[in-house]
Amino acid sequence: MPSVGLTFPGSGIASRPACDAPSCEDCYGFLVENVVATEKRVTKTRPELVGLCRYPIPQTGRYERLRLDKNENVSGVPPGAISEMLAGISPHFLSAYPEPGPLYEKIAGWHGLKVENVLITSGSEMAIRYLFEAYLDRGDEILFLNPSFAMFEVYAALCGARIVTVDFKQDMTVDPAEILDGLSSRTKIVAIANPNNPTGTVILEADLCRVVERASRFDALVLVDEAYYHFYGSTMLTKLSSYENLVITRSFSKACGLASVRLGYALSNPYVISEVKKLQPIDHANAFALKLGEYIVDHEELIWDYVAQVEDGRSYLTTEIERMGFVYSHSYGNFLLMDMKDKREGFIAEAKRRGILIGTQVRLPFPNNYVRATVGPLEEMRQLVAALQAVV
Ligand SMILES: Cc1ncc(COP(=O)(O)O)c(C=O)c1O
Repeated sequence: MPSVGLTFPGSGIASRPACDAPSCEDCYGFLVENVVATEKRVTKTRPELVGLCRYPIPQTGRYERLRLDKNENVSGVPPGAISEMLAGISPHFLSAYPEPGPLYEKIAGWHGLKVENVLITSGSEMAIRYLFEAYLDRGDEILFLNPSFAMFEVYAALCGARIVTVDFKQDMTVDPAEILDGLSSRTKIVAIANPNNPTGTVILEADLCRVVERASRFDALVLVDEAYYHFYGSTMLTKLSSYENLVITRSFSKACGLASVRLGYALSNPYVISEVKKLQPIDHANAFALKLGEYIVDHEELIWDYVAQVEDGRSYLTTEIERMGFVYSHSYGNFLLMDMKDKREGFIAEAKRRGILIGTQVRLPFPNNYVRATVGPLEEMRQLVAALQAVV
């Protein structure tokens, strides 16, 4: 059965630890129950903020390390491409407000859509946030998988929404029927990351279609977050013309290798897009991000080349993990969960010693010894395997 979070205030998924972690590379925030503001301030913030805890994100020192903690592209675009990307930066480029028109045209053309179907945002997480803000009123229900992208929970909570989750089981599966059962006339949004982070699992297209169809009976929107699309290769894009209540988000941060510039977009029917656009600041897009995004769309081969390298790295890594006797979850994203059992703490220390960053705060709805590692090209995976070998 889907579990229902408590309603505002203190809405959200119960059974979370207190907010005492020193840092967390993996989770951007979560809700805690019964939090009371301990310091008296002149003006109190909204109750939704009182119940929210955000972890500090590391601000420095990641470039020099092997970054296997945030599902990024770990090689980056080739240096030759960087100089081409930055060519043509003129005084006008810097002094004028950004011009998003060309990237709108390119993204629409890329997907066989019109610019009216596209909303460019600062990272796909802003598309997700705008969507939640546009559709979720206080007390409305939102359904997502547990665990999933951490910001679903944060943005839903900020809207004062009631959170309904479908929890992963120990075998890392969810039953799509439970998603259908969790929908009701109170549901406003169903958010499904496909592939899902951190589990790497996918919901098959036929099941997603059933969810979209059932949701439309309740006038609910279905967000299919395709941040990891390139590693999976299957998309709901072709269904956009059939379903008015479907929204897809895509990211330039993963296979495209542009996490730093914060670029993403949403695709949906013109009505949804125009409503959500009302929430955007006037000049929301950063000109550098737009320019780099245009380059990537024009040089799609860079994406597929990286995906191929990740697949080589994945087959090497999984063969070695199996050889060492660790269990891992089959993943359709550029990351995977490894069950480190009693070697977990030793491995975390060893990785740290070698300058390898890994995701250590994996929040699953059952006790576990998982860590999450980004899957990258062979060379990077050799370094990860060496760290694993040091603790077996
Ligand atoms: C499933 C999922 N969706 C969205 C995002 C946000 O990506 P972006 O960098 O485009 O904001 C992430 C980031 O890790 C993610 O894992």
